[in-house]
Amino acid sequence: MENVAGLARLEKDKDWWRGAVIYQIYPRSYQDSNADGIGDLGGIVGRLPYIASLGVDAIWISPFFTSPMKDFGYDVSDYCDVDPMFGTLADFDAVVATAHELGLKVMIDLVLSHTSDQHPWFQQSKADKTNDKANWYVWADPKPDGTPPNNWLSIFGGSGWQWDGEREQYYYHCFLTSQPDLNFWEPAVQDALLDVARFWLDRGVDGFRLDTINFYMHDQQLRDNPALPADKRNSTIAPSVNPYNHQEHLYSKNQPENLDFLRKLRAVMDPYNAAAVGEVGDAQRGLEIMGEYTAGNDLMQMCYAFEFLSGTRPDAALVADVMGRVDDAAPDGWACWAYSNHDVVRHVTRWDLSKSALELFVTLMMSLRGSACIYQGEELGLPEADVAYEDLQDPYGIQFWPKFKGRDGCRTPMAWEKSNAHAGFSTADTTWLPVSTDHANLSVAVQEDDPDALLHHYRRAIAFRKAHPALAKGTHDGVKHDGDVVYFTRAIGDDTIFCAFNLSDTASTIPAPNGSWRVIGEDLGATPQTDDGKLHLEPWQPHFAVPV
Ligand code: BGC
Repeated sequence: MENVAGLARLEKDKDWWRGAVIYQIYPRSYQDSNADGIGDLGGIVGRLPYIASLGVDAIWISPFFTSPMKDFGYDVSDYCDVDPMFGTLADFDAVVATAHELGLKVMIDLVLSHTSDQHPWFQQSKADKTNDKANWYVWADPKPDGTPPNNWLSIFGGSGWQWDGEREQYYYHCFLTSQPDLNFWEPAVQDALLDVARFWLDRGVDGFRLDTINFYMHDQQLRDNPALPADKRNSTIAPSVNPYNHQEHLYSKNQPENLDFLRKLRAVMDPYNAAAVGEVGDAQRGLEIMGEYTAGNDLMQMCYAFEFLSGTRPDAALVADVMGRVDDAAPDGWACWAYSNHDVVRHVTRWDLSKSALELFVTLMMSLRGSACIYQGEELGLPEADVAYEDLQDPYGIQFWPKFKGRDGCRTPMAWEKSNAHAGFSTADTTWLPVSTDHANLSVAVQEDDPDALLHHYRRAIAFRKAHPALAKGTHDGVKHDGDVVYFTRAIGDDTIFCAFNLSDTASTIPAPNGSWRVIGEDLGATPQTDDGKLHLEPWQPHFAVPV
């Protein structure tokens, strides 16, 4: 009997990621515990009870590995250690132990596509063309006229190729020149990265957020990317001022051979019941790639979707269209939705949302088929912070200022208290980015004391999802829209829920679903249905009902 129960637990655990709510922590800005003005792992440990109080299932911690911090940790110089700025491996163990005690899974952010140029692998690789790591990065000779080998671009601006005088060759970097791309065609590179995954799994992590998962492999013939016509330049992240958006990235990423590496990674993860969410960065083919990478049971469990990270506020038609496209592209796959993260303008500002709109958007996210990522501070409705040019840290923003201000405005420190210096984030004199003065009034302490605050709505919406397996793990019957209302039915086993959302500032009426239904979700704003055969929804009102 015991074995059966044990097995059942394992089975249950295996699927923990499906429908999970994941809270993203940007460690530099969560909580400073050693008064240096920068958040750290010790600070996270102290705040884990708060995170658990939200009712989320897991945390995703953005990179805390040893790094020269040119891209704030997304440039790793030692995959198996903690940067002293963030603490030590023992501090990380404390994060895992405390999170697990509180029932939270821990996902870490593995940046495998590239390293820092300070990584010993790159230092060795650049020394000459014959050392045993010579082939670990993407090296190429110049064209006869000395120019780079092809037209591939860097997301952070300009050519993706950087000349190295020591090796007398170019190397490819999709991001900063100090972030050389690893060569995944070299089997030893793949093995070394699988060892990195094992290292952290052995330390107790439950899964990974995989940075730029579709960038791992490049075309070995180094063919030029074709130009992308102006009307197809629909990137959510790269600003229009960025020529990276003028190419179709057919050859610099998205290579089919990537699937072989993902299968190997999944085989490493499976014995630990670990799950991964892959960040697919591709403005044109994102959902198609999600379908490829999450199909079956031997690749990634989830892909992170960019569809609700764009500047366009989703209306009912857009939500129905996106969900329909996911159904087509990834019929047995699984998306992970987000409205905000450390790379985009916070959604309250990006979409200019009122409090009731913010409430409805999180209620919607908790009802959609897929998993969900909440970015630190969005539960408080923090707006994008205004960061002065002289305070800018993000090289992406410095490069494209003022048309694109970079990512500092969504990365400013978390607001915990109203009156404390730096809103309770740090006791240092100055912090790495200033705490926004607007944020102090929206701090956790202020909202805890206000029963009408958004923070409590986030807790209720998450609890509602948890109480209804159909919302977390169920199917949907196709997401439809009628005017401003988006609606669908989620189901699993005996649990069926009809869901409708009025995504607008005006009241809407749609036909009520056939049959007899009982309204639920009153604490999220749903109101009992009238018996005129119609559903009347106030602006930004949801409706939930179960069959009777
Ligand atoms: C991360 C960014 C980072 C980039 C390079 C992205 O997708 O989210 O913050 O700059 O990868 O690693």
